[in-house]
Amino acid sequence: MEESTKNTSPNSSKPSITDDKYTWFFACDSADVPDNGGVCVKYNEDQIALFHFTRRGEWYATQNECPHRKQMALSRGMIGSQNDEPKVACPFHKKTFSLITGECLSGDECAITTYPVSVVNGKVYIGMPANNN
Ligand code: FES
Repeated sequence: MEESTKNTSPNSSKPSITDDKYTWFFACDSADVPDNGGVCVKYNEDQIALFHFTRRGEWYATQNECPHRKQMALSRGMIGSQNDEPKVACPFHKKTFSLITGECLSGDECAITTYPVSVVNGKVYIGMPANNN
């Protein structure tokens, strides 16, 4: 396990909330995510990389699997900015992906899925498409 990363399981005692577009599941407490770093959270069988980009005051969530070599690794990636676009670099071969659109900024891999994040009273929720339950 990387120093700046830990795995966090969703707290099943916290019910998810569904609206028209998303099922918002409780991921973890905001204090569980390192500043300018990420954690991996599970939603059913999916692994989600959750990032607290403290320098920008923003939260992001993406699939944890890097499409390059199918490594479950993006939550352990370095986050930064490229032309003001927030990005994550996979720790294996440094392919970079936009944290907003999921587009591969290295230009040669397919995009990753991104998810909306909501933080309410120190609780972090991730929105999964409502048809992904
Ligand atoms: S596995 Fe992520 S860049 Fe190669």
